[in-house]
Amino acid sequence: MNYIGSKLSLLEFLENSIDKVVDKDCRVFCDLFAGTGIVGNYFKKKGYKIIANDIQYYSYVLNKHYIENHKELMFSKLTRELSELKKVKTENRKDFVCDYLENLKEVKGFVYKNYCLGGTEDREIQRQYFSDANGMRCDAIRKKIEEWKKEKLINNNEYYFLLTSLIESVDKCANTASVYGAFLKKLKKSAQKDFVLQPAKLTVNAQEHKVYNEDINVLSKKIKGDILYLDPPYNHRQYASNYHILETIAKYDNPKIHGKTGLRDYEEQKSLYCSRVEAKNAFKDLILKAKVKYIFLSYNNEGIMSLEDIKEIMSLRGEYGYFTKNYNRFKADKNRKYKADKTVEYLHYTVCK
Ligand SMILES: C[S@@+](CC[C@H](N)C(=O)[O-])C[C@H]1O[C@@H](n2cnc3c(N)ncnc32)[C@H](O)[C@@H]1O
Repeated sequence: MNYIGSKLSLLEFLENSIDKVVDKDCRVFCDLFAGTGIVGNYFKKKGYKIIANDIQYYSYVLNKHYIENHKELMFSKLTRELSELKKVKTENRKDFVCDYLENLKEVKGFVYKNYCLGGTEDREIQRQYFSDANGMRCDAIRKKIEEWKKEKLINNNEYYFLLTSLIESVDKCANTASVYGAFLKKLKKSAQKDFVLQPAKLTVNAQEHKVYNEDINVLSKKIKGDILYLDPPYNHRQYASNYHILETIAKYDNPKIHGKTGLRDYEEQKSLYCSRVEAKNAFKDLILKAKVKYIFLSYNNEGIMSLEDIKEIMSLRGEYGYFTKNYNRFKADKNRKYKADKTVEYLHYTVCK
């Protein structure tokens, strides 16, 4: 997923840097601003037990699948409803179920009625986040997944796999420049294409992992680990508003929405790390509380907290250092002019005393 602050292209840098600092006995890797789950999943493949967390529910869903799911999904009970599934080999069942969902009859549900032109044309505010057909497909699939869960035809692991597949596939056909803070006037090419429900990849391994959906400053009191990896927001842009439609598709809770973009209320999910006034105190509280051997922090040279603040705070727990890498800036809006094409990405660390 094209996600603000995604560390997809920095994974090797993270691994090489972390390996230079930590001892060989580290087993538990905590990724507590997990976003897409890409960092946790990378270290899961390296054999770590992962604890992941994010304040956003769509991110929780992605991590429930990418991190917590670690055994092949059987869809055994669903064979009651889809009898042909019995004949399908286990490793092909995920594709079969996604294929079935992709071909459901379209439904005019919450997404169509609020975020598509057809559903909003008689309203005061028209929106076009998805083509009408793709909005109705999204509704049909989302409803069916919930129905299967309620009828106990799928278990939690299967549920989060299906929701992850839906969230990521829907994101590919969104009619936005990148995030959901605005939609485009005309349907762009990728938004015109027919919706494809791409099965999310599954990392099978022997470890148990754990995923939370909490404010990091609350959670960090309750958990222990070896390595704490922190990747907070760097600037004032709240993830809750930039990804509000993914949040609603994940929850499918018929929220009250308002304004041109159909934003849901996100008071409870406002991040202190996006506030110039609050970020430093929240970060200090987190660093002082963390029950781990090593702390790593991804941050760039243009973030809300200054490099001096970070050094001062992280040094409170032990020996401090950092690694750097030049990085191509994330451009949410390809037409906007940005200060610089490249930023310096820092990986700060503390070896805790
Ligand atoms: C820079 S992104 C993480 C990107 C992630 N490493 C990746 O590669 O996909 C920051 C994440 O922190 C989450 N977040 C912000 N404030 C939070 C808080 N107080 N507690 C937990 N998560 C928070 C956001 O929802 C967002 O997903």
